[in-house]
Amino acid sequence: MASPGSLLLGVNIDHAATLRQARYRSAPRTCGQMVEPDPVALALVAERAGADGITVHLREDRRHIQPRDVLRLRESISTRLNLEMACTPAMARFALEVRPDAVCIVPENRTEVTTEGGLDAVGISRRLGRVIERLHAAGIAVSLFIEPDSAQIEEAARLGAPFVELHTGAYANACFDTRRRPREFKRLYSGAEHAHALGLTVNAGHGINYVNIAEIRTLPHLHELNIGHSILSRALFTGIEEAVREMKARMNDK
Ligand code: PXP
Repeated sequence: MASPGSLLLGVNIDHAATLRQARYRSAPRTCGQMVEPDPVALALVAERAGADGITVHLREDRRHIQPRDVLRLRESISTRLNLEMACTPAMARFALEVRPDAVCIVPENRTEVTTEGGLDAVGISRRLGRVIERLHAAGIAVSLFIEPDSAQIEEAARLGAPFVELHTGAYANACFDTRRRPREFKRLYSGAEHAHALGLTVNAGHGINYVNIAEIRTLPHLHELNIGHSILSRALFTGIEEAVREMKARMNDK
């Protein structure tokens, strides 16, 4: 359980499913002992280690997380389920069926290896508005995964999304670039301040790791970070419990 004022951690478990699909892509939908690793079992251990929520991205090409994983998570986890999804009618129907605690709307491009760039909330404003309205009517909180740009932040506020998740990927990719990195950090800093001033709750994610967390955590008004790749990578060596505990400690400098 998070202590008051502490930064929350949503653990993204997509890559546990990536590993499973690498071997069992065409296996029956069974979750039997031989179909490993089971992302749901991993989520339960991550929760025990202090994860404040579990995040999964159900991609349209189903390359990692499967619909059944999301249904099983909904039934078994005791923290919050955050479903990342593209802004499509089919995904909205699925979210309304599963009823996650939160939906984070992300851009999706079938050729990308992982989510690249934030959502163009301005460009797909009408479509977003319809999906947000349906999800809110069902009591599902909506977050928009956007670049820390004024126009996108203002559109998120106008659409009534209570949360934004600021895309930290450009900052993370600039880690060795002594000119770009401070620039990207400044963009995130101003974006977080702007979003907060408009009444949005500020989350962040993508490319956050055990090193850059020292700087990321100094961004103002942060509520929750969604972190996947670095935690699962570390878990291969330490186990998921230690990997989650260590990230939470670094997030909150304890
Ligand atoms: N937040 C969003 C919206 C994402 O799509 C992803 C995965 O690409 C993450 C956070 C987690 O990123 P990472 O795996 O780099 O920690």
